Amino acid sequence: MIFVQYPNRDTLMAELADIIVGQLAVAIDKDGSASLAVPGGTTPGPIFDVLCEAKLDWARVSVMLTDERWVPETSDRSNTRLLRERLLIKEAEPATYVPLYADAERPEQKLPDLDAGLAAHLPLTVALLGMGADMHTASIFPGADKLSEALSGDDNLVAMRAPGALEPRITLSAKALNTAAHKHILIVGPEKKSAYEQALNLTPDLAPVAAILSGTSVHWAEG
Ligand code: 6PG
Repeated sequence: MIFVQYPNRDTLMAELADIIVGQLAVAIDKDGSASLAVPGGTTPGPIFDVLCEAKLDWARVSVMLTDERWVPETSDRSNTRLLRERLLIKEAEPATYVPLYADAERPEQKLPDLDAGLAAHLPLTVALLGMGADMHTASIFPGADKLSEALSGDDNLVAMRAPGALEPRITLSAKALNTAAHKHILIVGPEKKSAYEQALNLTPDLAPVAAILSGTSVHWAEG
């Protein structure tokens, strides 16, 4: 894995967006299509603002979340909503959106359908991932009820609950994320840098992000 430090957040977002667009373009040239998984949360909004303006044959790209909070799209905690507002617009509007949420009380009710929808878009071309200060990535949280399934099971999609998560989650598993030809972690601030450094010396059950670090580029700016 490599760790890339940027002078500031704006430069990070612009340069990483360029890298991702280049990787998607190469895959489109080679295979005729590409797939991109992106995180939700508070960090990626600015990279979505750059990506959605990129010249790319977006009609050949499928876009999905790495994980979703089990809340309706009307909630301001909905990652789907973030994607629709900041990524699947402008140049990127023709992209195919692969949902990780459907209207139901519990994620388990929709898991088989969502899983079937996802399967057609694997392997991933690019997985862009976030990370929490507790070393979770996607919604693979330390202490989660389905942690071992998400870390080492055969399923691509796992529904889970965790002490560190406010609502039930649905997440791509480490297996699905590790199908990506290119993996990038996007983190900002000193707290996340030290969490990443800590994860380098821990096993995935304590530091779930460790399960996807092999071959991954970590992109960081102080602020
Ligand atoms: C989510 C995410 C999650 C996120 C990290 C970091 O839905 O919460 O997809 O994995 O990337 O929690 O979140 P922040 O960027 O908000 O710190």
